[in-house]
Amino acid sequence: MKAYNKTADIKYKENLKKKIARLKKERNAVIIVHNYQRDEIQDIADISGDSLALSQAAVRADARVIVFCGVDFMAESASILNPDKIVLLPVKEAGCPMADMVTIERLKEKKKEYPNAAIVCYVNSSATIKAESDICCTSSNAIQIVKSLKDYKEVIFIPDKNLGRYVQDNVPEKKIILWEGFCPTHIRVSKEEILRAKKEHPDAEVIAHPECNPDVISVSDHICSTGGMFKYAKASKSTSFIIATESGMLYGLKRANPDKHFYVPSERLVCPTMKLTTLGWVAHSLEAMEYQIKIEGEIRERSYKALERMLRVSGEKSGAAISGV
Ligand code: 13P
Ligand code: SF4
Repeated sequence: MKAYNKTADIKYKENLKKKIARLKKERNAVIIVHNYQRDEIQDIADISGDSLALSQAAVRADARVIVFCGVDFMAESASILNPDKIVLLPVKEAGCPMADMVTIERLKEKKKEYPNAAIVCYVNSSATIKAESDICCTSSNAIQIVKSLKDYKEVIFIPDKNLGRYVQDNVPEKKIILWEGFCPTHIRVSKEEILRAKKEHPDAEVIAHPECNPDVISVSDHICSTGGMFKYAKASKSTSFIIATESGMLYGLKRANPDKHFYVPSERLVCPTMKLTTLGWVAHSLEAMEYQIKIEGEIRERSYKALERMLRVSGEKSGAAISGV
């Protein structure tokens, strides 16, 4: 077996970056990158952020082609919001296991059980499920979205039970009907690991993603989306933070706050499908114009409504009320 050659690896990556820059111009493309992507993918981002920021960026994107470095539901949302653009997902196997934890048949059964409930759908879901929902949400606006449903006392929240529980704690005036979905990456971090990290870094604040288990949330100082983590870390007087989310976050946080310290509480906080995208796949994607994600027809129209309602509510700082969705 050949030994690893660091210089050759750096040169290889630099060449790929040059190739990507050239192809991007030729194709009139923009590269949109989620905060969990590999470091080298974050380096080539035109726009990076959390799910909400990326949906908003996709709407504003002034390019013919969107290369979405993330997972499939994100590229699907970009296509739903931009029917005239070509949306590319560099690795076709880059899915989100949580999104597969809800099926249309089971959702229809649940709706029969709770006919007066609104269906609020975390964006980590397929276009077909979004089409069946009243409104979408992300981890950064879930509380605001549920509160905005003035005409509903009951909400079926799909698919993440941890985000749903977090919403319930913050919106006690509504009954949240939880779904048995979860993120296989976020549930890996335990309360014990957080407490151990706190012992090792007693001055650090704990920032956790709402997809973590409730006992992790209970020992954390601040709960927010990945985009919220950037804002919080920048604004906080603290100089060190324990970050309970996918480990890709550390690269961006350290880059944005070179004088502060960030720690992950568990080595297991790695989302395998987020890490599938490499520079080689991005270059291939632009060269071959693969893999095109296109949501069309009735599913596109209905899922667009659910996404657009979300963008309308979260776009207005006061939190617009949505009636009769
Ligand atoms: P954010 O919207 O907070 O970036 O979360 C997306 C996600 O997939 C979390 O696991
Ligand atoms: Fe899905 Fe979890 Fe990966 Fe986010 S971290 S994309 S929710 S599996």
